[in-house]
Amino acid sequence: MKKNLILQPILKWAGGKRQLLSQIEKYFPKKMTAYYEPFIGGGAVLFHLQPKNAVINDYNKDLINCYVTIKENLEELILELKKYQDKNNSEDFYKIRAVDRTEGYNKWTNVQKTARMIYLNRTCYNGLFRLNSAGQFNSPFGGYKNPVICNEPLLRAMNKYFNDNNITFKTGDFYDACKDAPEGSFIYLDPPYDQFEEQTNFVGYTEIGFSRKDQERLKNMCDELIARRCYVVISNSKTKFIQQLFSDKTKYSIKTVNARRNINSDSKKRGEIEEVLIVGKFSNEE
Ligand SMILES: C[S@@+](CC[C@H](N)C(=O)[O-])C[C@H]1O[C@@H](n2cnc3c(N)ncnc32)[C@H](O)[C@@H]1O
Repeated sequence: MKKNLILQPILKWAGGKRQLLSQIEKYFPKKMTAYYEPFIGGGAVLFHLQPKNAVINDYNKDLINCYVTIKENLEELILELKKYQDKNNSEDFYKIRAVDRTEGYNKWTNVQKTARMIYLNRTCYNGLFRLNSAGQFNSPFGGYKNPVICNEPLLRAMNKYFNDNNITFKTGDFYDACKDAPEGSFIYLDPPYDQFEEQTNFVGYTEIGFSRKDQERLKNMCDELIARRCYVVISNSKTKFIQQLFSDKTKYSIKTVNARRNINSDSKKRGEIEEVLIVGKFSNEE
C-alpha cells in the first residue's frame, strides 16, 4: 500500500522524532512481521513508517484516548474541536486548562477530553504536554498567532490509517506492551531520556517519572527481545550511564546522532545535543 504523505503527528510532543527520521530510519529493518512502539508520544516514527500491523502504547492514558477517539469517533471529534477555533486567547485557555481540576471533568466524554487535549496542545507554550505531581496539565498559554486547532485533513488521514490497518492501542508500562512481541517483530523504543548531570530543565512526561532503574529494566527487556530474534532500536541521550548500560558489543552497536532540542526552559541553552541510537544485533546493522 502507498504511504499517505499527509500523515504526521497531530500533537506536538517533547522529544518528537520528526527531525531525526532520516538519520535513524537507515538502521531500521527492511522487513518485519509487526511493529511495536511502546513510547508512542506524538508518533512521528509510526506515522512515517505506516506499518500494517502495529502495537502502540504510552503510559499517558489521555494520549492513547486521543488516538482511540480519532479512530472511533472522528465526526463527533471534528464537531467538538471546531468549538475551540475561536478560543486562542489566554482567558479561555486558562479556563479550559482548569477543567481537569474540577469534579465535573470525570463526566466528560472521551471525545470532549480529546478535543480539549488537542486544543491545549496547539495553543500552549511550546506544545509541551507537562503534568504536575497531581497529574494535571500545567503548561502556560503560548500566544501563537494562528494555531491550527482543527486540522481536518490530517485527522481524516489518521482515522483512515488506523481503520485500514491492524493497529492495537495499549496504555501502561512499556514492558507489558512488548512482552509478547513475536519473532521477527521490530520494536522501536524512544523512552524518556536519561538526564545529563548538568540538566535541570524538563521534569518529565508522567507523574511517576523515568529513573535509571527504569532504563535498566528497558535494557533487560531488550536483551530478552534480541534473544527471541526481534529487531530492536533504542533512542536515548549520550550519557555515560547509557553508553555503559549498552556496552556489550556482541548485542548492541551505538550510533551518535545530532539533534536540535528546544525543551530547555532557558532559550540560550537550546541547541545541538548528542543523542544515541542503539541498534540491537539482529537489526540491519552488523
Ligand atoms: C521521548 S517521548 C516519545 C516521543 C515520540 N517518539 C515522538 O516522536 O513524539 C517518551 C514517552 O514515553 C512515555 N512514558 C513514560 N514512562 C513510560 C513507561 N514506563 N511506559 C511507557 N511509556 C512511558 C511518555 O508519556 C512519553 O510520551
